[in-house]
Amino acid sequence: MTNSHQTDLIARLPKAELHLHIEGSFEPELMMALAARNKIDLPFKTLEDAKAAYNFSNLQEFLDLYYQGMQVLRTEEDFFDLTLAYLQRAKADNVRHVEMFYDPQAHTERGVPFGVVTDGILAAIRKGEQELGISSYLIMSFLRHLSEEDGFDLLVESERWHDKFVGVGLDSSEVGHPPLKFERLYQRCAEIGFKLCMHAGEEGPPSYVREALLDIGVDRIDHGNRCMEDPELVSIIRDMQVPLTNCPLSNLSLCVIDDLKKSPVKAQLEQGLLVTVNSDDPAYFGGYIGRNYEKTAEALDLSNDQLIQLARNSFTGSFLPEAAIKAHLASIDESIA
Ligand code: HPA
Ligand code: ZN
Repeated sequence: MTNSHQTDLIARLPKAELHLHIEGSFEPELMMALAARNKIDLPFKTLEDAKAAYNFSNLQEFLDLYYQGMQVLRTEEDFFDLTLAYLQRAKADNVRHVEMFYDPQAHTERGVPFGVVTDGILAAIRKGEQELGISSYLIMSFLRHLSEEDGFDLLVESERWHDKFVGVGLDSSEVGHPPLKFERLYQRCAEIGFKLCMHAGEEGPPSYVREALLDIGVDRIDHGNRCMEDPELVSIIRDMQVPLTNCPLSNLSLCVIDDLKKSPVKAQLEQGLLVTVNSDDPAYFGGYIGRNYEKTAEALDLSNDQLIQLARNSFTGSFLPEAAIKAHLASIDESIA
C-alpha cells in the first residue's frame, strides 16, 4: 500500500504530464452531456454501461472505443470544454506543465474542420495558463494506420497553425505500422523545426524503438516498454538520455502488462533511464497522473527518492526551455524542503 505519507508527497510534488491524448480525457459524463447538446445517439445509455465497455484486452479494442467516443465532439466549444475539464483535473493533481497530443485526422476525416478542433483546444490552453497557472504545449499526432501521404496532407492543412505546435507525434495501431513508414514525413517535420515524438514499443517490438530513435531521430519515445527486451538498446537510451513517457495504468488496461508489479518504471529508474509517469488516456484507463504515481509507487514499492526523481524527470524530459526547467526543478526542491 502507498502510505499516506507517500500520497501526500505525490500530491505535493509539482509535476509535468508529457503523454496525454486530450481525446482520451473524455469522461463519460461529459461525453453524454455533449451527445445531448449535439443531439447525437451514443451506444450506451448510462454511465455504468459506458464504464462496463472500458474493458480492453489490447490496444485496438481501446482504439475502437476511443474513436467512437470522440464522434460527439463537433464544435469549437466541445473541444474547449474537453480540454478545460482535463486541465482542471491536472490542476487538482498539482500538474504545472502539460505536453498534450491530439489527433486531428480522427476529426477531419468525419468532417470536423481542422480549425474548429485546434482553435477550441488552444482557447482552453490559454484559459488554463491564465486561470490555472498551467502551461501547455500542443503536439499534433499523425494516425499511423493511415498513410504517409495522409500525414503530408495534414501537414499542409495545418500550416497556418504550425507555430502553435511544439512538435509532432505518431499514435494509433502500432503493429504493422513501423516508424520507417513515416521516414519522409518526419524528415520534413524536423526541417520545419518540430520536436519529434513517436509511440514505440507499446505493443510493437524493440526494433520499432530502435527505428524511432536511430533511423528517425526522435526526441522522445512514448511508452517504449519493449526496449527492455534489448539490453544494447537500453544502454543506448541511457547514454542518449532520451526521455521515455511510460503510462502504467494504460499498460495495465491494455494488457501490455498483466500486473502493475511488472511495470518497467522501477527497473528503468534503477538503470538510469529518463523515464516519466503519465496518464495517456485517463478517462479510459482508470486514473489521472496522481493516481498513476500512487498505484505505481504501491505496486513497485518505490522510494520517496524515486518518486521525486520521476517528478524531476517529467520536467527534464519536457520541451520547456532550460530556464523554465530549472525553475520547476527548484519548485520541486522547495516542495520537499
Ligand atoms: N497508443 C497508441 N495510440 C493511442 C494511444 C496509445 O496508448 N492512446 C491514444 N491513441
Ligand atoms: Zn499514448
